[in-house]
Amino acid sequence: MTPDPDTARAQVQEAADVLRDRAGDAARVGIILGTGLGALADEIEVRETVPYEDVPHVPAPTVESHSGRFLAGRLRGVDVLAMQGRFHLYEGYTPWQVTLPVRVFAALGIETLLISNAAGGMNPLYRRGDLMLVTDHIHLQGSNPLTGANVDAWGPRFPDMSEPYDPALRQAAADAALERGVRLREGVYASVLGPNLETRAEYRFLRQAGADVVGMSTTPEVIVARHAGMRVLAVSVVTDECFPDALEPVVLADILAAAAEAEPRLTQILGDVVATLA
Ligand code: HPA
Repeated sequence: MTPDPDTARAQVQEAADVLRDRAGDAARVGIILGTGLGALADEIEVRETVPYEDVPHVPAPTVESHSGRFLAGRLRGVDVLAMQGRFHLYEGYTPWQVTLPVRVFAALGIETLLISNAAGGMNPLYRRGDLMLVTDHIHLQGSNPLTGANVDAWGPRFPDMSEPYDPALRQAAADAALERGVRLREGVYASVLGPNLETRAEYRFLRQAGADVVGMSTTPEVIVARHAGMRVLAVSVVTDECFPDALEPVVLADILAAAAEAEPRLTQILGDVVATLA
């Protein structure tokens, strides 16, 4: 829930001031890197690194597979501000805390948001390690970052969600995948609260609801980014196969291994998309 508008605006302002002082405000592209998917950061010519703990109101991540810092620099000729490590509702953060960095991005003038995540594949055609361009989502986390007072200066009370994922950015990603010979699926991402993985019955339910993959992140950030009028692209890495009638137990190590295997392809695609924004 958004705090009262004065508190909300003050928190975003204070965080944005610190990031602007330390890292500048040249970036027009923001990047949020998901579980096990931090390697894109290695491609950034980093100018400044700002640990989350140095930025007021930005929480410290609790998940070991995520490091916690902002990286400002240039990627493929474009000024970017990246988050290496993201916040999840299952860590106990409020929707406001999880999405505060996106508000800060908007306050710094960032217009485009690129997001990666790890997700379980429910579409039977998908295989572990596949990349999926998110074409739409089903937000099932039981809370919404836009509840509470609406800050009208940030966006409308009832933001449109008819096309949360920018068609031109999606086309750029599809073109890049074709060019590089990388298989890029296109589908619907369902977000759940977690932290447990789903039961067979839940995977069956989510698949019947129209989702191709399921994960525990992304949709709060996308909702806030769309509220703020940002263009959004999201790519999922299928880290496990969630076929209810042939389900195998999954452990985090397997998810991280699949993410690591897919990471070079993801990095190429996102890098190519950024290059089109130069
Ligand atoms: N379910 C939810 N989140 C996930 C999964 C899953 O199977 N795999 C990776 N993130």
